[in-house]
Amino acid sequence: EKDMGTDLEKVLITKEEIDAKLAELAARIDRDYAGKDLLIVGVLKGAVMVMADLARALGSHVTMDWMAVSSYGAGTKSSGVVRILKDLDTDIAGRDVLIVEDIIDSGLTLSWLLSNLRSRRPASLNVCTLLRKPEAAKVDIDVAYVGFDIPNEFVVGYGLDFAEKYRNLPFVGTLAPHVYGG
Ligand code: PRP
Ligand code: MN
Ligand code: MG
Repeated sequence: EKDMGTDLEKVLITKEEIDAKLAELAARIDRDYAGKDLLIVGVLKGAVMVMADLARALGSHVTMDWMAVSSYGAGTKSSGVVRILKDLDTDIAGRDVLIVEDIIDSGLTLSWLLSNLRSRRPASLNVCTLLRKPEAAKVDIDVAYVGFDIPNEFVVGYGLDFAEKYRNLPFVGTLAPHVYGG
């Protein structure tokens, strides 16, 4: 284990549980998009780990693109103000597009992203997220592929950060209060 043990309160989802879930989601995605030319879009930076592992679990060829948006400042709460930091390189008009996220918290980032991408007229647009916090939802979003519904706690690891740290943990865990309490 990495030397971050004292910062963590508990492990919420192990690497083994993540791998098993991504294999399950990948099998469903393979079935649902059989014969199609799927473009998966990772939302930087949080979705890097999910994209890398999900893409390798898929049994069919896909193309990958990335968008960077930011809705969180230095804090732990979503502001709902979304900025595009990096746009897609791909013209998605007429394409089958699957947005890949690490987490849906308030849902504000994704709801903004969905309407932005929808206006570019893709053939289809769906979402795959590793984590979702039902109790934190501020908007109702139809998500085709959900890994785990989790409690409304601040989680880090497997792409998820607190002030840019902990993204490289191989599992999802909660932070000890002293880390954000000071
Ligand atoms: C986090 C997370 C999601 C979004 C979810 O990204 O990766 O993209 O917030 O929050 P919401 O549902 O409340 O909008 P963040 O803006 O922190 O950027 P990052 O991926 O670079 O960490
Ligand atoms: Mn993100
Ligand atoms: Mg973040």
